[in-house]
Amino acid sequence: MTILLENKQRLITLGESISSQWLETQLDLCIKKIEQNMLRFGEKFPSACGSNGHYRLKENDDWTNGFWTGMLWLSYEATQNESFLNLALKNMESFQERLDCHFVLDHHDIGFLYSLSAGAGYKITKNEAYKKQLLQAADVLLARFQPNGQFIQAWGKYGEEKEYRLIIDSLINLPLLFEATRLSNNPVYAATAKKHYWTLLTTVIRENATTYHTYYFNPETGKPSHGATHQGNSDHSIWARGQSWAVLGIPLNESFLHSNPFPQNYPAIVDQFIEHLPADLVPYWDFDFTDEKPSAKDSSSLAIAACGLLEASKLDAYPDADAIAKGMIYQLGEHYSTKNNEANEGLLLHGVYAYAEGKGIDEPNLWGDYFYLEALTRLANKNWQRYW
Ligand code: GLY
Repeated sequence: MTILLENKQRLITLGESISSQWLETQLDLCIKKIEQNMLRFGEKFPSACGSNGHYRLKENDDWTNGFWTGMLWLSYEATQNESFLNLALKNMESFQERLDCHFVLDHHDIGFLYSLSAGAGYKITKNEAYKKQLLQAADVLLARFQPNGQFIQAWGKYGEEKEYRLIIDSLINLPLLFEATRLSNNPVYAATAKKHYWTLLTTVIRENATTYHTYYFNPETGKPSHGATHQGNSDHSIWARGQSWAVLGIPLNESFLHSNPFPQNYPAIVDQFIEHLPADLVPYWDFDFTDEKPSAKDSSSLAIAACGLLEASKLDAYPDADAIAKGMIYQLGEHYSTKNNEANEGLLLHGVYAYAEGKGIDEPNLWGDYFYLEALTRLANKNWQRYW
């Protein structure tokens, strides 16, 4: 059997151990931890990743703040406990202030921030102020579109030559634009998202269905120039989280676009992810590393991929997507969750933020926690409406 088939089979078999009782227990454990964290965090926000299992407390000033608010919304939806709602509503004031002051918003991660705050808030409360907030945020993202190259510039000053690039993570920022069109009937948001999406599919994804982290364009001509990494091991390696952003991002965008045909390389993108999983089925932070040449694991990458497969399964985009995703979540829940580690504030152990910078290595991180909880929620409640 090939490694791909073997890994798929092992994931499917593991996933068969998931029962509604198991899901309920994992959700309870996560929500208890979020409740504990809430008492310490108050109206502050946790840092992107932990240090020795603890999040630093800070202002709403990073690309990751939405994950905490998203976890509060998920906890409120699961329990109807008003303490989660009240803190989520307080967070929403901070997100409005951040928009009004344009505070640390000169980047494309507006979708990560505002789908999980304004988007979730509007879905759950139907408060018109949050719809307005979502549209205001969408305008900020729209303003980063580069007609010369047809992409949304990820980082840095708009038009800056050394930052004239898109990055694979941007796939998760686009649903905010599709949602903005749905809520406003203004087609410009979705049209811009679609342009960026098609530019991305034809650049940052390599012929063999692996991914670069980032892709540069020539600012004069707009022509695609070259792939490069930012958080991966090298320009030519496969950064595990980048590959999982593609596993999640394509079905998320296709749920709005319904392209016909579905991007044909999608199954191969998922295959590359699954094929590179090591013996315990939780990826190293970059696929340059293997059990023979190990490094730190990135549990967050597996949680993201699981959410991607659960989304893909709704679109019939990958065979056995649901069963494989269950295996991923079971493995995380049994061996990478903090269920036996009360002192750790994360939900998932063993993530990596940015290895070369020494950031968040072998620590929990907010997106790992969020996507693990989102995956559990998706599995426990088939009618759950996602925030993206
Ligand atoms: N979006 C940045 C990261 O995945 O670390």
